[in-house]
Amino acid sequence: MISLFTSLLVVAAANITLTADNIPEVVSALTLEEKVRLIVGYSDGMAKAAGDVGINNKTLMGAAGATSPIERLGIPSIILADGPAGLRIRPEREGENRTFYCTGFPIGTLLSSSWNTEIIREVGEAMGNEVLEYGVDILLAPGVNLHRNPLCGRNFEYYSEDPVLAGESAAAFIAGVQSQGVGTSMKHFALNNQEVNRLSNNAIVDEQVCRELYLRQFEIAVRKAQPWTIMTSYNFINGVHSAENKWLLTDVLRGEWGFEGAVMTDWGGGYRGAAIVSAGNDMIQPGGVDWYNSLIEAVNDGTLPVEDLDKCVTRILQLIVKTPSFRKYAHSDSPDLKAHAQISRLAAAEGIILLKHNGALPLVAGSDIAVFGTASYDFIAGGTGSGNVNKPYVVNLREGLAGAGFLLNEKVDDFYAGYMKTEKARCEKINRNKNGKWYLDDERALEVIPEDVIADAASSAQSAIVTIGRIAGEGKDRSVEYNYLLSEAEKGLIKSVSDAFHRVGKKITVLLNVCGVVDVTAWEPYADDIVLCWLPGQEGGNAVADILSGKINPSGRLPMTFPMKYEDDPTYANFPRILADKPFNYSFYRSLGDGIVRHDIRNIDYTAYEEGLFMGYRYYVSRNVPVQYPFGYGLSYTTFSWDKMRMEKVEGGWNVSVCVKNTGEVAGKDVVEIYLEAPRSAADRPLRELKGFGKTRLLQPGESTVIKVFIPASECKAALSADGRMKRGWSLVPAHDASKDVDVMIGS
Ligand code: GLC
Repeated sequence: MISLFTSLLVVAAANITLTADNIPEVVSALTLEEKVRLIVGYSDGMAKAAGDVGINNKTLMGAAGATSPIERLGIPSIILADGPAGLRIRPEREGENRTFYCTGFPIGTLLSSSWNTEIIREVGEAMGNEVLEYGVDILLAPGVNLHRNPLCGRNFEYYSEDPVLAGESAAAFIAGVQSQGVGTSMKHFALNNQEVNRLSNNAIVDEQVCRELYLRQFEIAVRKAQPWTIMTSYNFINGVHSAENKWLLTDVLRGEWGFEGAVMTDWGGGYRGAAIVSAGNDMIQPGGVDWYNSLIEAVNDGTLPVEDLDKCVTRILQLIVKTPSFRKYAHSDSPDLKAHAQISRLAAAEGIILLKHNGALPLVAGSDIAVFGTASYDFIAGGTGSGNVNKPYVVNLREGLAGAGFLLNEKVDDFYAGYMKTEKARCEKINRNKNGKWYLDDERALEVIPEDVIADAASSAQSAIVTIGRIAGEGKDRSVEYNYLLSEAEKGLIKSVSDAFHRVGKKITVLLNVCGVVDVTAWEPYADDIVLCWLPGQEGGNAVADILSGKINPSGRLPMTFPMKYEDDPTYANFPRILADKPFNYSFYRSLGDGIVRHDIRNIDYTAYEEGLFMGYRYYVSRNVPVQYPFGYGLSYTTFSWDKMRMEKVEGGWNVSVCVKNTGEVAGKDVVEIYLEAPRSAADRPLRELKGFGKTRLLQPGESTVIKVFIPASECKAALSADGRMKRGWSLVPAHDASKDVDVMIGS
């Protein structure tokens, strides 16, 4: 009788088709093998082992991964693809005579440099539309780990040294992408703050510091934007691997923050399948037959309770029913790339930072410009690794300036045309022979100092620009000597151009087309103006020309500190020092393939967060350490005044308002940053902590506007007495940057 009953059940179950309303029934109908297939990603190896032919390179389109289909119950496979600066899929497909390019947007650091959550959301919407129209379901972005140290190879993908700026940027991005009906995967949860030995490095950090800094931006974004998924990091936290960390994934993420989505590992992250599932990490990506077999075995031998497996399967099905693949959305494969290119250009310009302004800019319309520096002709649009985008083109500075109507000094232009051609051939030869070492930086043109060309240009050109380029990427951290510091040739070029042009009363601009913080102190006196454009995406040259020409007034602000020298950084002693000039792939530095996790070499196997809360500007401002440029700093072609500062107690916090007036000659935007300032007596607390910010719209000369920022009391716990009032000596101060001098106090 039972066998008949069971077989009736199976037949009935066989007729179930997944909907948003019958997930518990579908979970009951799944066999153990089917449940495990849903947990384990659907890499080609997995597909072959499962006898499926559905997923292949063409379907995956060069995406990062997928989930397994279970056709019997109407469960489709969903597609997961990178990345933070644009969708990453293969631009060519066999049998297709068209391309599938995606827009190369500005890197995360440039988006956060805009301090403009509206434009970050617009970038998210455009990127999300490409995810939708190219048939992908989840965008593996944003990357939100803090810039703990300037040399982390993936800082370009990340937003800031401050969790409030990072969290607000992430929330805006996620809301933008998910407004298109596709999902995101906020990453890497958590403390993935270095690439060296990333697969097994153990981050040793005080729990309070972890919560106030390294988890905070994730919390802000979860509470504000509910990313459909979160990706755990490769590293350990206080001895427990992120993907196996029940405290992190179940107690904090879901229990305290109310996260409703699914969690996936990073690609190849984690070690023990049963521990991963029981911790609340739902998917193991990109999957593989070994993971599949180990999970089946773990359930059968009791190591993995079926209840834990069912919880993960339930969350995966709850995710799947939200996706375009489940909705059978008929994607067009033709997103509006032209329109998105314009959004990329405007977002890049919005984040570009004017660091020094001594009269070189804006350039005189139609003037003759001498453009030096190899990066001017081979602009760096983005970083390498999974954060790269297969974009249709990159506009370099030369093209941007020509497009903006400037004359390119003939002698200089001719020199670089020939030189770059020779260098291109030399570099291509080297780059063709990387032997699969994806993580090695491409060889780039060597910097030279064409003295005679410089001398000639000083007499014929009106102004000069020197571009310094720096790239970085996943899988390695940056070297001080070979990446953070400028080379002798680069410093020599800046000095030579500066001397030649200053000799005839002309000015020069240095443009930083860089992946992260570089040394400025060594050469800053030679530059009249300094512009920081980070890695600005495919429209980079046009966006920079919009700023240099004055068509757009720079309004970016630094999302991190530029120290006087690298050794001033508070994490200097607790970060790996890369001495090689061609960093090899440190990701696997100590994973010797024997499965043994070692935690005995400082800054390689383990990294001690000894600086505690005093990281970034929290350190420099509290300890009175002078910096080259402070967090939150940035100049404008116009000037602003602030007054009528008000702090109004409201439900749950305060409204801080500031009246901002454009007191200069040209239209511009300003940023009001609100810091919680501690009394000197509170030695265990940073002197300044960003608690909110607001950016004006474009203000015409003489125009004013009021910026109002709500500061939650929950963000200011250290400053509150038992009755919820702010303790004596504590205050909320609006300022132009994190440095000590406050512009105007509240109430004045
Ligand atoms: C990589 C990265 C992660 C990326 C994933 C898929 O190793 O760490 O950011 O999303 O794998 O490419």
